[in-house]
Amino acid sequence: MTDANRITIFDTTLRDGEQSPGCSMTVHEKLAMARKLVDLGVDILEAGFPIASEGDFEAVQAVSAEYPGVRVAALSRAVKMDIERAAKALAKAKAPRIHTFIATSDIHLKYKFNKSREQILEEAVKAVSFAKTFVEDVEFSAEDATRTDADYMEQVTVAVVDAGATCVNLPDTVGWSTPDEYGEMIGRMVRAVDGRAVISVHCHDDLGLAVANSLAAVKAGARQIECTINGIGERAGNAALEELVVAMKVRNDRLPYSTNIDARLLYPASQLLSSIITFGPQPNKAVVGENAFAHEAGIHQDGYLKHRSTYEIIEPGEVGVPESRLVLGKHSGRHALAQRCNDLGFRLTKEQLNEIYNQFTAVADRKKGVRNDEITQMIRDVIARPAEGVRAS
Ligand code: KIV
Ligand code: ZN
Repeated sequence: MTDANRITIFDTTLRDGEQSPGCSMTVHEKLAMARKLVDLGVDILEAGFPIASEGDFEAVQAVSAEYPGVRVAALSRAVKMDIERAAKALAKAKAPRIHTFIATSDIHLKYKFNKSREQILEEAVKAVSFAKTFVEDVEFSAEDATRTDADYMEQVTVAVVDAGATCVNLPDTVGWSTPDEYGEMIGRMVRAVDGRAVISVHCHDDLGLAVANSLAAVKAGARQIECTINGIGERAGNAALEELVVAMKVRNDRLPYSTNIDARLLYPASQLLSSIITFGPQPNKAVVGENAFAHEAGIHQDGYLKHRSTYEIIEPGEVGVPESRLVLGKHSGRHALAQRCNDLGFRLTKEQLNEIYNQFTAVADRKKGVRNDEITQMIRDVIARPAEGVRAS
C-alpha cells in the first residue's frame, strides 16, 4: 500500500465529543483519555476550544506539555482573540495546529451572522493569515460545508489555501449529506486544491451516515478523518473512530487505506471513555458494544461453535475485546447449552443435558437471559439425582 493511501486520524473526542451532553471532562480526565488516544496511535489530538473555558485552555496546555509526540490541535472561531488564545494554549506543543472555523452556508450567513458571502470569505482568509503568524500548521473548517453553495465552497477553499491553510476541513456539521453527494463535493475540493493542502472530513451522525459519508469522502480523495471514540459528539454524535478504522481494516479489499491506529486498543479506549463520561456505547454498537460479539440465536450459536467465521467477521482480540459471548436465552439451542455446561466444568450425559435443557427453556421463556449461576444450579439439581454426572475438575 502506498503512502498516498495513508489516512490521518484526527481525534476530536476531547473537543467535539466533550462538548456534548453528559460528556464534559476535567483536565485530569482529559489527560487520562489523551494517554489512551496517544497509545492508540491517533495522528492529531484536538484537546479543546481554549477561548470557551479556562478548563479547555488548561487541557490544551497540559496535553501539549505531556504528549510532545502527538500533534495537538486547538479550536478557534475565525476571530483574533480566539486565535490568540489558541496559540497561547499551544505554546508548549512540539507540533501545534490552530484549527480555525467559520460557517459558510447561506443559512448560517443569514441567521447567525447577517453577513454576505464576501465578508465571510474575507474573514476566513484573515483568520488563516493571522493563525499563520503563530504556527505553521493551520486547519480551516468551513462549518456547514455540506449546505454551502458548491461554487462558493470552492472559492473559499482555494482562498484559504492561498492564505496558507495546510488542511481544509469540510464538515457535514448537521449530518445532512449522503455518501454520493459528499463524495462529489469532496472530490471537487480535492481537485481544486491540487495537492497544496490536505482535504479533511468531519461528519455528524444525524441520519446515521457519518461513517459512510467519511468513507465516501476518503474514496473521493480526502486524507484526514475527524472522529471520536464511541462516536460521541454534538446531537447524534460524530463518526466513530473504531468503526472507521475497523471498516478499513476488515474491508481493505474495498477500502484500501491504512491508519496508524493499533486496533487492539480500540475496546480499552472505548471502556476508558465510558468510565469517564456518563454513558457507554449502546449494547448493539459496532465494534465496541457489549453485544458486538455476542450470539444468542440457536442457529447462530450452532454455526459459531462449528466455525466462528460463520457469524463473525472480526476476531474480538483484534479490536481488544476479551472474547465472544454466547448468550443463553430463549433463542439458544442445545449446542450452546452443552458448551456452557462444559465451560462451567461439568461433563454430563445426554439424558442429563436433555433434562437441563428442558429446565433451561422453561426459565429462558420467562426471562431475558439465563445467568451462569442459574445454569450451575440446574446442573447441580440434576446431577444430585441418581443418574450420574461428573464434575470435570
Ligand atoms: O461540526 C462542525 O462543523 C465542527 C467544526 C467546528 C469543525 O465541529
Ligand atoms: Zn462537529
